[in-house]
Amino acid sequence: MKILITGGAGFIGSNFIRYIFKKHPDYKIINFDKLTYAGNLENLKDVEDNPDYKFVKGDICDKKIVDEVISEKPDAIINFAAESHVDRSISDPHSFLKTDMQGVITLLEIAKKYNIKRFIQISTDEVYGSINETSCAEKHPLNPSNPYSASKAAADLMVHSYFVTYKMPVLTVRSSNNFGPYQYPEKIIPLFITNLLEDKKVPLYGDGLNIRDWLYVLDNCEAIDLILDKGKEGEVYNVGGGNEKTNLEITRLILREMGKDESYIDYVEDRLGHDRRYSLDSSKIKETLGWQPKYNFEQSLKKTIQWYRNNEWWWKKIKSGEYLEYYKKQYETGYKTQKRIS
Ligand code: NAD
Ligand code: DAU
Repeated sequence: MKILITGGAGFIGSNFIRYIFKKHPDYKIINFDKLTYAGNLENLKDVEDNPDYKFVKGDICDKKIVDEVISEKPDAIINFAAESHVDRSISDPHSFLKTDMQGVITLLEIAKKYNIKRFIQISTDEVYGSINETSCAEKHPLNPSNPYSASKAAADLMVHSYFVTYKMPVLTVRSSNNFGPYQYPEKIIPLFITNLLEDKKVPLYGDGLNIRDWLYVLDNCEAIDLILDKGKEGEVYNVGGGNEKTNLEITRLILREMGKDESYIDYVEDRLGHDRRYSLDSSKIKETLGWQPKYNFEQSLKKTIQWYRNNEWWWKKIKSGEYLEYYKKQYETGYKTQKRIS
């Protein structure tokens, strides 16, 4: 199987590529990524020499290069590429609409042209919006409330429209908040861990009582692989970790594990339009595909803290800005010297 993974240099995409090579050593992967501030080929150092792996730098909004890469006729496309950080979407919504919606239409159009047999859109629980009680199953109305989630919801609707209109073999995965190694240190868990490693305070928004449902990234990778293999065309699958916690609970767990007290909490102004709670009903993937999250939350959080302790080389360069300045310059858009894999 040859898979085109877009956004594979980011957090979940890079974990997914590593997961796939371990689980299916016979698969071939093309990683197509724009290398925005969040894309980092150092996430994939251990796979870059694999003869079945190839990186192509490009933007999913750029029809020419997308056509070139899809003309290699992958068996499946999995679209992880996105602007993914809610706070950035509040200050710069345009780039979100462009990549998270227009980029998806570009991919869909060209996947249609080459008759690609499977197209998986990586979406998010945020498209359902905030919910105070109960949980959202796949049929729950979309009610996004920030520019990031609104762009992702628009993409989900476009993906669905390609199923209905063109009978394209599309599937959508909506997962809850992921955590684990190689997550860009702007998201709450890696930001708080790395701040504490630098003996800095952690900025907790508002009253700290907003709730997110945490999913270890490898549980998500397993779900996506299962959906790739057995998911039904046209369907949406929720993937939730079943670990609903307030941000204050998460902060206290991190503080305790890192031997710091609550004086390290800096209660700061709330995020604009801050969604109070996300909650997914993941019965469908459990009942129809037999998926279950395997990783215990507390243990995985400890393992994640340990990973950031052991890998200062990775996050210090990002936090200082050194990575952006020196490392990305060597990659040019397109194939140029890149190998082709059959
Ligand atoms: P990330 O920000 O770590 O990575 C995004 C990747 O996409 C980066 O490598 C970036 O360079 C690339 N990219 C951005 N714009 C691009 C473009 N125009 N063309 C090509 N590549 C581009 O994000 P992540 O946390 O790994 O999230 C991956 C996907 O999963 C996103 O679609 C996101 O919406 C979704 N998601 C994330 C979470 C989470 O908790 N992180 C939860 C649910 C869903
Ligand atoms: O729910 C899935 C979504 O999870 C994904 O679709 C997004 O791509 C991903 O970024 C994530 O969005 P969140 O906004 O939930 O993640 P973030 O880590 O930014 O924030 C988690 C919670 O922590 C949220 O309630 C805001 C709060 N927070 C966040 C930061 C960065 C803080 O209190 N302080 C912070 O500094």
